[in-house]
Amino acid sequence: MKRLMRLRGSQHLRDLCAETEFNRAQLIQPFFVVEGLANEEPIAGLRGNVRHSVASALKQIEKDLADGVTQFLLFPVPAEKKDGNFSQQLTRETISEIRRQFGDSLCLWVDTCLCSYTTHGHCAVMNDKGINLAATLDELANSAVAFAEAGADGISPSDMMDGRVARIRTALDAKGFDLVPIMSYSTKFASNFYGPFRNAADSAPQFGDRRHYQLDVRNRNGAINASLRCAEEGADLLMVKPGMTSLDLIRPINEQTGLQVGAYQVSGEYAGMVLLAEQELIKFDEALLETWHVFKRAGAQYIITYGARYARRLGIGR
Ligand code: PBG
Repeated sequence: MKRLMRLRGSQHLRDLCAETEFNRAQLIQPFFVVEGLANEEPIAGLRGNVRHSVASALKQIEKDLADGVTQFLLFPVPAEKKDGNFSQQLTRETISEIRRQFGDSLCLWVDTCLCSYTTHGHCAVMNDKGINLAATLDELANSAVAFAEAGADGISPSDMMDGRVARIRTALDAKGFDLVPIMSYSTKFASNFYGPFRNAADSAPQFGDRRHYQLDVRNRNGAINASLRCAEEGADLLMVKPGMTSLDLIRPINEQTGLQVGAYQVSGEYAGMVLLAEQELIKFDEALLETWHVFKRAGAQYIITYGARYARRLGIGR
């Protein structure tokens, strides 16, 4: 009889045979900084994550650094919503304060999108006909340059507008930021799993939905094509999102582009585990670790997760 169980008999043997491994440097912790906030505010479903003021974000980062987190993804949420000419003051201040306090002990990625800035909550500048692509690309490129000037280590465009990676790359290069990488949300689906995030980032669309710019989950070719396009436009790192519903796409995208692909375990996916744990239906830490190993098995190079700050507690080294 074939005895596959023989190699599972002890932790030593299981570790000997483990094919996936990763370290804390490959986990990215998102955080929200909300303008004008006096006190931290909880975010429904996102255990361990709150809406921060600049001051409380700095405290959280200090704690996270002590816990071994080194990669962060900032979501700035301005108080004033507009329809264009967006101010990047909050983001600039946040980035430069982080740089001033923590120097290069962390790697700071900044999400670049407009949905937290606009009155209507869409990821673009709109006119009567719909998306005003030219104006949107201008805003995104200006944002990226402002973030790089303030000291961001990398730019993460999450808007899914055609041509944004090329425009951002050109704008960064023109200002001498040719070594600032772009981590593109390259395969991003229209999804039901962004719910907790939209509460945290004030970014729910006020009319319609995002299906005219985010991807259709039914389409594998469209999904791969979107990442190929970002690669051609000059993205340095690619990403699938939501991660848990895009596992099948990670390897094909990596193989076809030669670029590393990360997975974003989005707010609804994370909150699902939080809620199951609250009902005592799963053990939170073990479930979280299970999903991270699955991302790795599927070929993800890095993972963006609201639980990155628990990595050391979960036994993930270095
Ligand atoms: C902004 C953006 C979204 C997320 C990241 N950037 C929401 C959306 O596209 O509606 C979702 C992240 C999450 O759910 O954790 N475009």
